[in-house]
Amino acid sequence: MLTVKNIHQYYGGSHILRDVSFQATLGKVTVLLGRNGVGKTTLLKSLMGLVPIKSGSIELEGKPIQKATPYDRARAGIGFVPQGREIFARLTVEENLRMGLAYKSGSTPIPSELFELFPVLKQMINRRGGDLSGGQQQQLAIARALAPKPKLLILDEPTEGIQPSIIKDIGRVIRMLADRGDMAIVLCEQYYDFAQELADDYLVMERGEVIARGLGKDMEAQGVRQLVAI
Ligand SMILES: Nc1ncnc2c1ncn2[C@@H]1O[C@H](COP(=O)(O)OP(=O)(O)OP(=O)(O)O)[C@@H](O)[C@H]1O
Ligand SMILES: [Mg+2]
Repeated sequence: MLTVKNIHQYYGGSHILRDVSFQATLGKVTVLLGRNGVGKTTLLKSLMGLVPIKSGSIELEGKPIQKATPYDRARAGIGFVPQGREIFARLTVEENLRMGLAYKSGSTPIPSELFELFPVLKQMINRRGGDLSGGQQQQLAIARALAPKPKLLILDEPTEGIQPSIIKDIGRVIRMLADRGDMAIVLCEQYYDFAQELADDYLVMERGEVIARGLGKDMEAQGVRQLVAI
């Protein structure tokens, strides 16, 4: 679904992403691990087109998208759940979900399935985003990204600052979406146990480079826990 080849990215003079290559496959969760500040968010933003890359290629279903705008990448089927959620605090839950459909025609309904995945959003449909708990906001951010039915879902640290029961719910939803087989998922995570449980494939970054990769089932044996321990 997604093929990233040899990307390099700079913030001003700082070389942040160094020759990053990986693939994300339909029906699989590809987990991206790494300590603070190694470039995980920068990588995910460059997939979405929110930061420009200097060189390398990004292909979605075999088509190069590295020059496309974030808007066009969303239209091409990428859903993005940013670190820190970035929901619209003053808009209601329903309005936030509609924002996820902004590039679809005005009559596109909010898929009812989102309320099956996250029943709390139905109960709170008229509440303002800013009045939800952190965990509820995270569920809203995921539902907003899912609303247009993406083929590739990118999540940046969805468990950050969230209570365990909601982390479990989010994990179940991610597994279920992958198991359906019609979506590729890229999940950036620092919570090792959550990452390991969900990973079909993993990548570890350090100082902007991928320093380890493999199958999720081999993470423990390959010492990934120690690699990312703080
Ligand atoms: N807009 C920016 N301008 C300049 N430098 C930046 C910018 N955003 C991030 N950086 C730097 O790029 C590096 C990678 O940051 P990034 O946010 O990608 O890390 P991260 O792995 O997501 O970290 P965290 O785990 O804390 O979220 C860091 O050194 C950071 O200071
Ligand atoms: Mg980050």
